[in-house]
Amino acid sequence: MGKIQSRKEEHVRICLEEDVQYARGPGFSDIEFLHNSVPELDMGKIDIGTSFFGRKMDAPLIIDGMTGGYPKAKEINKRLAAAAAEHNVPFGLGSQRAMVENPILTQTYAVRDVAPDVFIIGNIGAAQIAHYPIAKIKSALEAIDANALAVHLNALQEAVQPEGDRNFEGVLHAISRLSDSLKIPIIAKETGAGICADSAVRLKNAGVQMLNVSGSGGTSWSKVEYLRGKPVEGFEEWGIPTVVSIVSCAHHLPLIASGGVRSGLDAAKAIALGAKMAAGAHPFLAAKNPADEMGKWKMQLRTAMFLSGCANLEKLGKSRIFVTGRTKQLLECLRVDVSEYAMR
Ligand SMILES: Cc1cc2nc3c(=O)[nH]c(=O)nc-3n(C[C@H](O)[C@H](O)[C@H](O)COP(=O)(O)O)c2cc1C
Repeated sequence: MGKIQSRKEEHVRICLEEDVQYARGPGFSDIEFLHNSVPELDMGKIDIGTSFFGRKMDAPLIIDGMTGGYPKAKEINKRLAAAAAEHNVPFGLGSQRAMVENPILTQTYAVRDVAPDVFIIGNIGAAQIAHYPIAKIKSALEAIDANALAVHLNALQEAVQPEGDRNFEGVLHAISRLSDSLKIPIIAKETGAGICADSAVRLKNAGVQMLNVSGSGGTSWSKVEYLRGKPVEGFEEWGIPTVVSIVSCAHHLPLIASGGVRSGLDAAKAIALGAKMAAGAHPFLAAKNPADEMGKWKMQLRTAMFLSGCANLEKLGKSRIFVTGRTKQLLECLRVDVSEYAMR
């Protein structure tokens, strides 16, 4: 097995067997909805449907990209894609680097046989696209029939990893070139360290159409790398907490909120803060039945909307919430007046 293949296998094993979650959370516990005792709604009629790059989705929820490139990944991807298809929500693949470098591994990413209509998000690293010819990336996306591409930003992981690719020079230019020549939209996706407003603006200018903030507070890639040995230590809690990243970026591009989203209630909070969609990675990998997990998240989202009096997602985006604790402190450092969320 090649180096990338065995690394991807080790990541899944470590994520399932060890505690690799950030000790400091994503900030959702600092957010509370203002309860509405007179919702005047029939919960059964609440509309959680949305559109995603022009396609109708049953919920604003996503199974985020994780794996591919080794034999067991094939089974994991099919299981997750089938769950996403059952609920008509988008599904992300893990980094396609292994198949770009060794096309025989394409079959470990291919899910169309179990999910013919699911919205597939392909995945490639920002540090890699600067080195790959565009034609190679295009054919990797065509091979899995991707509907969008997530370009992942994983500077933290590469920086602490002994064999990491630490050259991020020319990344924005590479994204810009790629966005000019791809027919499908590009999402810029962090991998657990969050995106700040300044980076959001630069990514938007490079042609990115959506951001997946993937903030800190969920799966910690520095913790995963520490367990693989010989990393640069001391960065276990590095990153912008997911809630802070959502608030920072929401005015710049449509957002997917991820990083420590652990329930449909967290997803509801993310949308109330300005995200369009919410995604989870680790919870769906760890779930005995990922389709049941998605069903649970949908029910929790609907319940939060009922109790805050929101008939649809647009109303949820303007609902009244309290921002407290460390999240309030961090946002005030960025000159955000958090009382506006409670008083709107
Ligand atoms: C086992 C595993 C593998 C992952 N591999 C990738 C990857 O290849 N590409 C990527 O963009 N993100 C990858 N991620 C990051 C997730 O997509 C997500 O951004 C991050 O884990 C935070 O979400 P969570 O807290 O719900 O796990 C991976 C996550 C996990 C748990």
